Amino acid sequence: MRTSVLFVCLGNICRSPLAEAVFRSLVEAEGLADRFTIDSAGTSNYHTGDSPDARTVSTAAVRGVRVEHAARQVTPEDFSRFDYILAMDAENLRRLERVVSKLDRAVEVRLLREYDPEAEDSAEVPDPYFGGTRGFEDVHDLIERACRGLLAHIRAQRGM
Ligand code: 4NP
Repeated sequence: MRTSVLFVCLGNICRSPLAEAVFRSLVEAEGLADRFTIDSAGTSNYHTGDSPDARTVSTAAVRGVRVEHAARQVTPEDFSRFDYILAMDAENLRRLERVVSKLDRAVEVRLLREYDPEAEDSAEVPDPYFGGTRGFEDVHDLIERACRGLLAHIRAQRGM
């Protein structure tokens, strides 16, 4: 059985496709690619079908991470398909929790930065969309740290 992980932000063009790509590269580096299904989605439909933001793609490319995704909105089926759903910020977590409270299935829905060892409680991945390139670099650093923590958490929880 594969472990399935979904990253969620608002537009699914900046933060969550980056988290998807960073997490995938970590999983591949640890030789676990065939043990995971990894995807991302947005709580909005603002950018459905769009490619990732050019700033996300270029910032990640500098760090050797390729970001390829077509934006999509979170669907009800995602809550039965995924084992771990990671929200980038509190507003997106709140939107997900509204659905999760009605489920009987155990799906772990958390803020991604819960797994960032340097983050305080309730820390978010800030939305870089309306800022400059520097914001995208900072977001990449936060996401990479949190994704390392998330992978360690999942490996420990699942005995991998
Ligand atoms: P994301 O960033 O949620 O990280 O993909 C955003 C992308 C688009 C918008 C807001 C945030 N928007 O308002 O269109």
